[in-house]
Amino acid sequence: MTDFEPPFILAIDQGTTSSRAIVFDHSGRIVSSAQSEFPQHYPNDGWVEHDPEDIWNTTLATAREAFAAAEKSGGQVAAIGLTNQRETTLIWDRKSGAPIYNAIVWQDRRTADICAKLRDGGIETHVTARTGLVLDPYFSATKAAWILDNVEGSRARAENGELAFGTVDSFLIWRLTGGERHLTDATNASRTSLYNIHDNRWDDALLEKFGVPAATLPEVRDCADDYGMTDPDLFGRAIPICGVAGDQQAAAFGQACFAPGDIKSTYGTGCFVVINTGDKPLASHNKLLSTIAWRLNGETTYALEGSIFIAGAAIQWLRDELQIIKSAAETADLAESIETNNGVYLVPAFTGLGAPHWAPGARGLITGLTRGAGRAEFARAALESVVYQTADLMTAIARDGARTNTLRVDGGMVANDWLMQFLADIIGLPVERPKVLETTALGAAYLAGLQAGLYQDTEEIAERWRLDARFQPAMAPELRSRNLAGWSDALRRTLA
Ligand code: G3P
Repeated sequence: MTDFEPPFILAIDQGTTSSRAIVFDHSGRIVSSAQSEFPQHYPNDGWVEHDPEDIWNTTLATAREAFAAAEKSGGQVAAIGLTNQRETTLIWDRKSGAPIYNAIVWQDRRTADICAKLRDGGIETHVTARTGLVLDPYFSATKAAWILDNVEGSRARAENGELAFGTVDSFLIWRLTGGERHLTDATNASRTSLYNIHDNRWDDALLEKFGVPAATLPEVRDCADDYGMTDPDLFGRAIPICGVAGDQQAAAFGQACFAPGDIKSTYGTGCFVVINTGDKPLASHNKLLSTIAWRLNGETTYALEGSIFIAGAAIQWLRDELQIIKSAAETADLAESIETNNGVYLVPAFTGLGAPHWAPGARGLITGLTRGAGRAEFARAALESVVYQTADLMTAIARDGARTNTLRVDGGMVANDWLMQFLADIIGLPVERPKVLETTALGAAYLAGLQAGLYQDTEEIAERWRLDARFQPAMAPELRSRNLAGWSDALRRTLA
């Protein structure tokens, strides 16, 4: 017999570099999990694609593995929650379910020129006013239009209603329900540049400006809602899909950021700081995004978000491209092996820079190299870059008038104590690490649990949040200023 508390919830977390599945018990403990990395495709400078069948196959395989292990331990999976890499864009044939092009990944910069042209046409303020977003290739609209303009015959087929557009959540719901449902949730919709976040509806004027036919769009639902039943062949019986949210919003939910001012930062492939701003969107004057945090029972909670494109990906770069480490875990010891960064700074603008710069043409830079700079300096510079970028976001958030006292962190990198202490030192705020670091999947599970009636409300969820460690700022002010000045200098050169 197991001491896990039934019933169980299966959370599917389809991320940028891997698909994961985690089964949680009712108390939020992990019962079983599975993870599978899949290939990234870089067909051109600044292009990033995924094979949709890799997305589907790794999602299904990991979900089945975690599901089988959990049910073997004696409990039953009552519901599925789904969370996903956001903005990544797919278009598929409604009849066959086959995508007409690879998934264009959120990091992909191929539509930078289209964005520049639209900007010259003067529509950026219009886009920002309606969507809360800036005009950048990051978001789905220009990616969808690019596919329709480059796959022969597809625009006419889209207009006829033969093709479906969707972010990764939509595509997976379609596949999981055997092609029965074409749905998305309000958080994923809010990242397309096509969704009016004030009125909570697809925006006709934006659809026209970006050139995306309305006939391709999914229906938008609440984050805790009925997303259909899985095809019974997939798990041996039909299971209801009850919760959906983009991964950063799911992480904020899993971190119980339920009150205005509550803030979290997630360190995955990229880094995303999300602060709850309550029931009204706060317009940023510092190039942050105003976005939907979640929608429950038709009521929308909004957030300000700072999006950094490269965080964990900088460590993968050390491992896979430079090959100076074998595993990500080595970076902690390497960084600690030197007392300072020895003046070496990395600006990991590998796919341009996101908030608060929005510079799609920027590229990576390393400064301050001396004859003695080696693996330790590179590892430390990569880790420090994640912290300095977070600090820039925290400054923008403060300038926008959002107040906060602590920062809750999650994602794989936050297991590194040295990095978390450096983060607290540089942002000058306490950093709180929860016991469960898988808050993205946990957030999706909680959303599904709400819909399935396993949790009553967000208060019940907030009570389950547990602190693992709190890191207090302790760095001497002169050293902090010196570090930040070195970073600003490197950043200035990157943007020059
Ligand atoms: O906006 C992109 C984000 O959703 C990707 O998240 O965890 O795959 O880095 P992650």
